[in-house]
Order: sequence, then structure tokens, then C-alpha cells
Amino acid sequence: MSPLLTRRRVIAGVAGVAGLAGTAGVVAVAANRDTPKMINLTAEAIRRAERARQRPGAATVRATLSPRPVTLDLGGVTVDTWGYTEDAPGPLIRAKAGDRLRVDVVNELPTDTSVHWHGIALRNDMDGVPGVTQDPIGAGERFTYDFIAPHPGTYFYHPHSGVQLDRALHGVLIVDDPNDAGRYDQEWIVVLDDWVDGTGRTPDDVLAALGDGTDGMHGGHDISGMDHGDGMPMDDSMEAMISPLLGGAGDVDYPHYLINGRVPAAPVTLTARPRQRVRIRLVNAASDTAFRVALGGHRLTVTHSDGFPVVPDVTDALVVGMGERVDVEVVVADGVFPLVAVAEGKMGQALAVVRTGGGSAPSAEVRPAELDRRVILTNQLRATEEVWLPQREPDRTHDLVLGGGMMPYRWTINGKTFADAEPFLAGEGERVRLRMTNQTTMFHPMHVHGHTFALRDGGPRKDTVIVTPNQTVTVDLDADNPGQWMTHCHNIYHAEAGMMINLAYQL
Ligand code: C2O
Ligand code: CU
Repeated sequence: MSPLLTRRRVIAGVAGVAGLAGTAGVVAVAANRDTPKMINLTAEAIRRAERARQRPGAATVRATLSPRPVTLDLGGVTVDTWGYTEDAPGPLIRAKAGDRLRVDVVNELPTDTSVHWHGIALRNDMDGVPGVTQDPIGAGERFTYDFIAPHPGTYFYHPHSGVQLDRALHGVLIVDDPNDAGRYDQEWIVVLDDWVDGTGRTPDDVLAALGDGTDGMHGGHDISGMDHGDGMPMDDSMEAMISPLLGGAGDVDYPHYLINGRVPAAPVTLTARPRQRVRIRLVNAASDTAFRVALGGHRLTVTHSDGFPVVPDVTDALVVGMGERVDVEVVVADGVFPLVAVAEGKMGQALAVVRTGGGSAPSAEVRPAELDRRVILTNQLRATEEVWLPQREPDRTHDLVLGGGMMPYRWTINGKTFADAEPFLAGEGERVRLRMTNQTTMFHPMHVHGHTFALRDGGPRKDTVIVTPNQTVTVDLDADNPGQWMTHCHNIYHAEAGMMINLAYQL
């Protein structure tokens, strides 16, 4: 058993006692036990921050999610898995900025779950992290998430419980801007995913095999070993795992890659009329795969990254990391075109068909030339002026050194796994700088809950940013949302193997 799992058991035990004591939903935060100066969930500051988000005339959007065992048809591939509906991905939830969401979660799974609202600057006690912001939602139990969604944008939701994200347990949350109707005629929501569950292995099997070194892209790889020329042979599958953009590009060899829950042999069709302007909301809900996305015959104008506007950037292709959302606009031509998402550095791709006129559908293996023209990462984008963080010197700077590797399967921040990591601190009202340095040979999409940070020197506002090998990414955030916020790699296997730390506000 990994130390993380041991720690989780401890947290669950503490939470159980707290529940019996009748402190409804308020758990003893494990990392808080020895450092009482950290904020807890009952703090008035958390309620005050939520009151400040209230808007006159805001609506309440209600939804119900019933995570449960389901059988899904991925397009000729039938899998038994866990989902929120009989269709992957989960139901779309849509609100306007400033609206209140009330989402009832009825847990019909045989185990604990939770729902995290990825990218939303919400009240801390609704953030959906068991053992940190709430008790786990036990099998057969319910929990109501109730929070205001302050900022417009493309978001998604998923459990923060083990590797459940790698099943069909995710869905898109769109927060519309009431003051901006949008300049587009059509909207397509495109969810990218890597798929293994129900094909003979569950994500829990995959995690266990990575842990004992019996799995992970054909027996585990260590590209640092190759870098050091230690004579370790490199077969084709290992070579495919090195991305010119990302370095080592994944730990898990997935049998399928999906767009909107379909394999490339049976793709979804996205329709419009020729010359219409389409907004495509790309969501990478994969657990271990970045995707290189292109639309055959078109260039894409990137307009938003993680919900926030960017200076429009025209590109042929872009790489979207796990947990990132990117909105692009395109004026569609007349005909039939492949929207391709190649599993970056892996074998395989996902496909959707764009149809505005006559023509035959592309093959599952189609590879548009745009994939190999101008390709960008989202950290190259620029924020629009309206979302710049005001110029200010940081009140504190935290270094987060990303470490670890495949053998043993252990991923760390500042040399520690989550089980042993002390939270890093912020004071309400401070400007906090994070310097994330990647000392591994893999890329890591680093995500901070409850905040949107700014990349340096006019870079984009984001909540999830790819840090490539040997790179340092420096981001600033305003500590304006008191609470305890997970900060972690959005490779769900890396997070589970330790690459996770708590950003805690001081009282
Ligand atoms: Cu989607 Cu803790 O993250
Ligand atoms: Cu990682």
C-alpha cells in the first residue's frame, strides 16, 4: 500500500469521527492537525468571499448527478464503467456568470465519490476534495453542492476521488457571460478523452500496475535512462512516447482515444452551414494524455484559455494538456473535414467529423497536414488587457520543484509525496508567486484549485498550465479566495502517486 493510500485511510477515519460529532460536512483537515494557524472550513472569511460573489437578479441553476455503474457504447466498443449518464461524457451544466448552482449528487456507486468544479473560483467548502474540503460521499449517500460561479468560461467537473476521472465520470460546465452574446453562429463542445475502463483493465488496475512496475507503456519506461545513455534499449512504443513539444508524453498506453465519447471508427458529426462562424470549446478530460488538435482545411483562432480571453492567435494546431480548456473560433468551409486530436507522443488519435456540405467521411486514420504546421502550447498565448493582473510585487514566492519518475512510480513536489507534504501558505489579499520547476523527463499540467493565475509578462490567465521537462513556469495569483486549495499535476496517475500539495490560507 502506498503512503498516500495509508494517509487517505487516516483522513477518512478522522472525517468519520467529525461526522458523528455532528459538525455536518466539516472535516478535520488532516494537514491542519499540527498547524492550527491555517484556515478551516468554518471560517467567516470563506462565507464573506461567497457573499461578495452575489449578484442582484442572479438565477439558481439546479442539476442532479447520479454517478453509477453504466454500460456505454463508444461506437462499436461496449464497456462497463462508471458514469453520470448512459452517454459519455456527463450532462452539460450551463449557467450565467454570477448564478448560483445547486447540484444534488446521489452516489449510486459501490464506493465513495465527490465532485470537483474544475477551474471555478468557488467557495472552498464546495470544492469537492474529500479529506480536505468535505467528507467523502459514501456509497448510497447524497451531497448538495451549492455555490456561485463568478467568472464566465468553459469548465468541467469530475470526482476528486482516486482515479475515478479516468472512467466516464466527467462533464462540461459552461458559464456564459450575460454581457456577451458571442460573435459566433454555432457552438461545438468537444471533449477529449483517453479510454481504458472496461477493456480488461480498470483505472485502478492501471494505477496498481504502475505502482508495482508491471505496466506503464509496456513495462515501464525511464527516458532519463535513455538520456544518460545507459544502454537501455528503446523500442518503438517508447520512442513514440517522446513528444517534440512535451518530452516524455504519458505513462499509460490506452486502447482508445475519444471525442465526445466515441472512437474514431464511429465518430460524432458536428454540423454547420458553410461560412458560419463556429466557437469550439475544447475540454481535455483525459487522465494521462495531451492532445494535438487540428481541423483539416482550416486554421483555428484561439480566443480563450481556461475560460479567460486571450489575444486572438491564429494557428494550425494546438496542444491541450489534461485539465486545460481552450476555446477556438473557425469560419467553416464547404464540405466534410476531420477534427483530429492526436494523442501527443503516443500511438492513436481521436476524431470527429465536421460536415457543412456534401462529401464522404474521412477515415479513422486521417492525418491532416495542419497537425505538423504551426503548433502552439497555450502558455504561448497572451492575455487580453482586461484580464491582466494589476502590476504588483509578490508578497511571497513559493518554489514547487516537480520530481519523481516511473521506477519506482512516485511523483513529488519539493521531494515529497502528498502524504508527507506540508501545505504552502498564503495570506488573504496577498500577491503570491509560484515558481514551478520540472526536474523530471515528463510534462506536468499543473492545476491550482479556486484561483486563476497569470503567466508572467502578459501571458494568459489560466488554472492549468503545462510545465515541460527542465522548464520553470512562474505564475502569479491574487489570494482572494480563502480556504485550502489543492495544487497538483492533472495527470491523474501522477496526482495519485503523490504530485499534489495544499495551498492553505493562514488565519
Ligand atoms: Cu480537475 Cu484537482 O482537479
Ligand atoms: Cu504529472
